[in-house]
Amino acid sequence: MIYRVVKYGDPVLETRAADIMSFDTPELHQLVADMFGTMYAHKGVGLAAPQIGLSQRLTVIDCSAGQDETQKVVLINPEIVHREGQQVGEEGCLSIPGFREDVKRTMKVTVRARNAAGESVELTAEGLLSRAIQHETDHLNGVLFLNHLSLLKRDLIRRKIRKLAKAGEWE
Ligand code: NI
Repeated sequence: MIYRVVKYGDPVLETRAADIMSFDTPELHQLVADMFGTMYAHKGVGLAAPQIGLSQRLTVIDCSAGQDETQKVVLINPEIVHREGQQVGEEGCLSIPGFREDVKRTMKVTVRARNAAGESVELTAEGLLSRAIQHETDHLNGVLFLNHLSLLKRDLIRRKIRKLAKAGEWE
């Protein structure tokens, strides 16, 4: 099934999500498949469970946007264990549609996580994949890319979103 993506303003997006405790269940495999489906349907390269209203530490990433099966990444209960360097680049979020801003991130990260089968996985990434890992891991901690912007920029975007919500254009 394709889930509705929760928009900025919903408290689930600013809540720390809970660890996933049971692995390799039909429900978890289905959820992962549906999260990829939902992400592709919305033309995203990453999606975290809180964005479908589920406060659990699960995220899916595919920087090829469905073009290359080998680039599919599933991270459950992820921990970034190493960070190196710096990069600045434009970022958006399916939960904050229509807004894109430059965000400063680490260039290279190593993340430890589990996959849906419950196996430990470790991944070292640079560039866009590294950025996606940081953005999605942030989601699981209730942190949005807006939190990385200057107060001034964040306020400006918040004000614009409030206006859209008032006009019924932020559902
Ligand atoms: Ni996002």
